[in-house]
Amino acid sequence: MITVVGSYNVDMTFKLSRFPIPGETVFAQEVRVGHGGKGSNQAVSASRLGGKTRFIGAVGNDVNGINAINFLKSEGVDTSCVRVKNAPTGTAYILLNGGGETMIVVNRGANYELTPEDLDACLEGDVLLTQLEIREDAVKRALLTFPGLRILNPAPAELNDVEILNHVDILTPNEVEFKEISNSDDMLYGAGILLKRVKQAIVVTLGENGAMIFTKNKSVRIPTIKVDPVDTTGAGDVFNASLAVFLEKGYDLETAVEKANIIASISVTTYGALGPKIEEIEKKYPEVSLR
Ligand code: RIB
Repeated sequence: MITVVGSYNVDMTFKLSRFPIPGETVFAQEVRVGHGGKGSNQAVSASRLGGKTRFIGAVGNDVNGINAINFLKSEGVDTSCVRVKNAPTGTAYILLNGGGETMIVVNRGANYELTPEDLDACLEGDVLLTQLEIREDAVKRALLTFPGLRILNPAPAELNDVEILNHVDILTPNEVEFKEISNSDDMLYGAGILLKRVKQAIVVTLGENGAMIFTKNKSVRIPTIKVDPVDTTGAGDVFNASLAVFLEKGYDLETAVEKANIIASISVTTYGALGPKIEEIEKKYPEVSLR
């Protein structure tokens, strides 16, 4: 089982021809409301790839919270450990430009009410996926207690307690997050610093350039397929979900990253933060081997 500890947000996406500059007002071409939050995106995307998935998170005692739980259930995700808090459900405000790039502001709401104690009795499974959109003490409890492989996607890269990294097997930052967490512009050097704490590997996602894998004795770039992106929201979430699914299936890290790269690339060709179903990928891209 894949256990995801993280956030749920209602995503409000404003499609723009270009991002505004400070002080400028621009018109939205379109506004979309959808399911988001890094934790929920990862749980749903893993489930869509056939992974048995549990989501541990917090929603508000409002209509968005009810919708969130119903949505997760409809996607086949185990919601028995989703807590309902006396706070509004999290929301994210996403600016999406004509090139598919995004700028995101999150109001954490109920996500920030998830406590370490809320996780007790829920931390079972083979692979843990967690991020930094919830309280750090909850992330720490998850990493310290989980019995299987632990993946931390350090997004957003606001990490105060670096000791947390000592309890991570695989760290999956994007380039921006990598620089913030390693405090270095030099990837090889920064990865070396992080690998003093992280147990197995640093996997840096590079968008259209695929991903870099750093382990104690090797570094390798794994490319991806070329696509025309319309919306990169959640690409990192789809990558992490896919990585968890393929590692759980027993693939080695390089093969799991190769498949995760491809699925993340496919995900940016459609709107929204969620990944494709395995059957959709097989239909549209028969040359891609995922089983
Ligand atoms: O990673 C994408 C997600 O980040 C969005 O769905 C938004 O909710 C923010 O959490």
